[in-house]
Amino acid sequence: MVPPVPVAAGGRHPGWPARLGRLRVAAGVVELRKPRLTDAAVWSRTRLADRRHLESWEPTAPGTWEERNSALSWPGQWSTLRALARRGMSLPFVITVDGRFAGQITVGNVVRGSLCSAWVGYWVASGTTSGGVATAAVALVVDHCFTLGGLHRLEATVRPENLPSLRVLEKLGFRQEGVFQRYLDVDGAWRDHLCFALTTEDVPNGLVSRLLTAGRAHID
Ligand code: ACO
Repeated sequence: MVPPVPVAAGGRHPGWPARLGRLRVAAGVVELRKPRLTDAAVWSRTRLADRRHLESWEPTAPGTWEERNSALSWPGQWSTLRALARRGMSLPFVITVDGRFAGQITVGNVVRGSLCSAWVGYWVASGTTSGGVATAAVALVVDHCFTLGGLHRLEATVRPENLPSLRVLEKLGFRQEGVFQRYLDVDGAWRDHLCFALTTEDVPNGLVSRLLTAGRAHID
């Protein structure tokens, strides 16, 4: 039986809170930080403008896109992310590029005990894509989770149609492990997802070093 995760004083758990970066990629300098209540306006503005870019890949949820992504809905989402992080169940990060809000990357469903596993999910604003941002963010998060975060395995599930996301995982050397049929309710229907994973044994020197060696990122 997996022992329950204790709620630590001050919301501290392995690897949380954390600030990660700074990796220079083609798009700029990528850093990861905690979400802030004050992200409401930029978060909402970005997501409302990027509906076509994001909606096909995100879990179906109640309400319209406008309702779910209004600045008024951010405090509730921020508070949920913070509560899950304080309970050791998630590591939620905002991605910044050159100090500006550029997306989110979240490690979720953290299970410890003899599993020590979680999933990772991400989005990057359309104005900043194809510049290596998501690849750098995933590398930073994986290395953090496999060291200070104390995790052994990270999974990423992706719709087969999501070519940019598949490319991110390919560049990082994630292993495809199979197909999860009708896995997740995305954009109004149950969608098949390809399952990718890494364990610590796959990346003894970390993913950031892999990116640096490949010339895909530089320490700023
Ligand atoms: N077909 C094939 N490759 C493509 C395409 C395409 N249509 N469009 C872009 N690419 C490539 C890019 O050229 C780049 O590869 P390269 O470095 O070899 O040139 C790669 O895909 C993207 O790599 P990054 O630049 O590191 O990623 P980016 O910062 O652009 O973010 C992301 C990728 C997160 C998928 C972004 O497009 C996005 O937010 N999409 C909408 C939301 C989404 O799909 N999130 C992921 C869901 S799955 C998950 O979370 C596990």
